[in-house]
Amino acid sequence: KAFLLLTDSTSALLLLVLSCPLWHVSQSVPVMSKGPMSESCVSYAWILLQNITDALTQNNLFSGINCTKQNVELNMKTKTTSVCAPKESKCSRNAETEFNLESCLTNIGEDLVHYYGFLAAQPDPDSLLGQTVLFSLRELMENCFPWIQLTDLASVKAAIDRPSSYDERLNLCKVLKGFQVRTITINRAIGYISSGQHAK
Ligand SMILES: *[C@@H]1O[C@H](CO)[C@@H](O)[C@H](O)[C@H]1NC(C)=O
Ligand SMILES: *[C@@H]1O[C@H](CO)[C@@H](O)[C@H](O)[C@H]1NC(C)=O
Repeated sequence: KAFLLLTDSTSALLLLVLSCPLWHVSQSVPVMSKGPMSESCVSYAWILLQNITDALTQNNLFSGINCTKQNVELNMKTKTTSVCAPKESKCSRNAETEFNLESCLTNIGEDLVHYYGFLAAQPDPDSLLGQTVLFSLRELMENCFPWIQLTDLASVKAAIDRPSSYDERLNLCKVLKGFQVRTITINRAIGYISSGQHAK
């Protein structure tokens, strides 16, 4: 069995085996298959993360607020973090969930729709969100989550052309920080799926 693993020549797999006593060798023979997520989806998700991170530094979006000091507000309506956890997290004793491709993609899709709706409804007279985060979010959805109904998105009002209130800026800051955290999870999940590791 050890020899078989060596010929797999996947050092990541070996590391996983070495670091995880519960790993069953018989399950570790790789099935080379392409995930439903292409390499380009890895880039779309990465660009989205960059644009969110960049938006969080735009003081014009948060005037009067020190966004660094604010709490992170996560979208609790989805289970992305647990259903997208890679299989090897089985090692962890309290991990009760198993990676599930369909649930993972469904939950990511729901996150994307949720944040798209929220962001599109924000006052954005200078198009600070519309030309960056919303644009890259739409690119990710259209190219990698084609089952999301674009008519649903089109019905969301276009960028609202008035200045934001203090409460709106405060809320935007917290939600955008949550979106950043969730997008890190989404990046990991898409990378995992795209690499085909989930099918092993
Ligand atoms: C915002 O808060 C952080 C953390 O408390 C602090 O380091 C930073 O200097 C503050 N920025 C401004 C512009 O006040
Ligand atoms: C979004 O992020 C990508 C990657 O960092 C960058 O190339 C692009 O210019 C950003 N888009 C905008 C509009 O800032």
